[in-house]
Amino acid sequence: MSERLTLRRPDDFHLHLRDGDMMRAVLPFTAEVFARAIVMPNLVPPARAVAEIVAYRDRIRACLPPDHPFEPLMTAYLTDDTDVADLEAGAADGVVKAVKLYPAGATTNSDSGVTSVARVERVLETMERIGLPLLVHGEVTDPEVDIFDREAVYIDRVLDPLRRRFPGLRVVLEHATTADAVEYVRSAESGLAATITPHHLVINRNAIFQGGINPHMYCLPVAKRERHRRALRDAATTGDSRFFLGTDSAPHKRGDKETDCGCAGIFNAPTAISSVLQVFDEEDALDRVEAFTSANGARFYGLPENTDHIVVQKTLPSDAAPWSVPVGDDQVRVFSPAASSAWNIVDGLIRPKPKARASTG
Ligand code: NCD
Ligand code: ZN
Repeated sequence: MSERLTLRRPDDFHLHLRDGDMMRAVLPFTAEVFARAIVMPNLVPPARAVAEIVAYRDRIRACLPPDHPFEPLMTAYLTDDTDVADLEAGAADGVVKAVKLYPAGATTNSDSGVTSVARVERVLETMERIGLPLLVHGEVTDPEVDIFDREAVYIDRVLDPLRRRFPGLRVVLEHATTADAVEYVRSAESGLAATITPHHLVINRNAIFQGGINPHMYCLPVAKRERHRRALRDAATTGDSRFFLGTDSAPHKRGDKETDCGCAGIFNAPTAISSVLQVFDEEDALDRVEAFTSANGARFYGLPENTDHIVVQKTLPSDAAPWSVPVGDDQVRVFSPAASSAWNIVDGLIRPKPKARASTG
């Protein structure tokens, strides 16, 4: 059994690259497959001001070989104190491609996030005027709200009122995880899209508790019931241009996951495209996978589609043993659910060429 497909090179519209050792370890997995990625700014400290964002972009570029074509698309971390003029200048220069709204306390490194939409109204007004997209981590932080309901409640309490207040603002509901989110995005007339992750297409919340507690299946927003996974699969595979791939690949060291109060985040960069292909294959929608991975997101961001391609091949699934990538004296576990290895990239990977050896004559 062998089936091959040629796909326009994909982009990743939601990625955590981190910094330092971690970035050096994880970046090659994204840069060998994806042409571009929207890079999340939730560093410690976060990338808020344009100077911090430019410095971060330069550190990413410095991790790549000089002629590598991968393009990091940078985002600004929105705070109650964001400097509107600085942000507007960064957008005009083309450095800042979008602004990320983390409700303060909602997820990893969100402590400096927004405490209330009322405090960022001037920024949102400006973004609406200049067409700069707002990327939303759509979960309420109210501890009274059940963790599995936080996305649906956010849409009702925060996102819908925000969109009514700023009707021209272009918004991406990041890492949609519920049927409620899918329905909300579908109901919007314009200016609203959603990213969907490979893992939320593959797992439901049972994966977190299968045979014991599985910290490597824990992320935020947390995986939901099967009916939500089904709704996400439907949204991704029906070709609707409002849904596109954002991996939310979010590496944490095993020591930070396998511990009391482990971090939220799933590292899927090495397996993201295989997982997505498997999902589209299972849904008999391989003819629509390119829209999800390589067209819809570019269109939303006003970017040209990539012109080169990758070739993928279907093989018999092997037993996917858990595997990890070394980082310093620790490791990062790779999202590798059973049977996700049935599709492999067989051509088009961008790998640095080995350095030419000096001739000894
Ligand atoms: C992300 C991280 O680790 O930075 N974690 C996650 O579970 N997705 C933050 C985020 O996107 O919520
Ligand atoms: Zn994320």
